[in-house]
Amino acid sequence: MTRILVAHGSKRGGTAEIAEWIGAELCETPGVVVDVRPAAEARDLAGYDAVVIGSAVYVGRWVPEARRFARRHRAALVHLPVWAFSSGPLDRSAQEGEVPPTRSIAKIVERVGARDHVTFGGRLTADAKGFVAARLAKERGGDYRDRDQIRAWARAIVKELQPTP
Ligand SMILES: Cc1cc2nc3c(=O)[nH]c(=O)nc-3n(C[C@H](O)[C@H](O)[C@H](O)COP(=O)(O)O)c2cc1C
Repeated sequence: MTRILVAHGSKRGGTAEIAEWIGAELCETPGVVVDVRPAAEARDLAGYDAVVIGSAVYVGRWVPEARRFARRHRAALVHLPVWAFSSGPLDRSAQEGEVPPTRSIAKIVERVGARDHVTFGGRLTADAKGFVAARLAKERGGDYRDRDQIRAWARAIVKELQPTP
């Protein structure tokens, strides 16, 4: 049995949904058990064999819950296989090529010893609350998350954890 935690930081639900998609894909492999949790609710990493941590990007940074998760669990994370993802770009850039993490995000990725970091497209709905978000939604709102790309990334995680003989 391989137990994987998928922890996410999400303000408007788009990244939480990506985490669910990743969790569902990981579960497809027999013997893999997955917990998908908001980063703030993931208290104890005991019993997990691997961790996926992902966050929405706001002004170049992960949301506070995801940053706190990485900080609080650093000692455990460095001894586990960890994969990281960000969700942000409100255009097709994350589907067309690799979007490197910002300095702030790269630092977290390095500190927890993540094996990989990927940036997925983001989502901002037209009814987004907040002055800046509403304006941004008008200019660049939409759903730029690529479910196939996300699923493929999750499959690569399982492959690395359970290499076929
Ligand atoms: C105020 C604001 C600031 C944002 N800043 C960034 C940013 O710096 N980089 C980025 O790639 N995306 C940025 N985004 C886009 C969000 O990361 C994107 O909408 C994401 O999917 C939100 O995830 P959530 O629904 O899980 O909160 C920003 C969005 C808003 C509303």
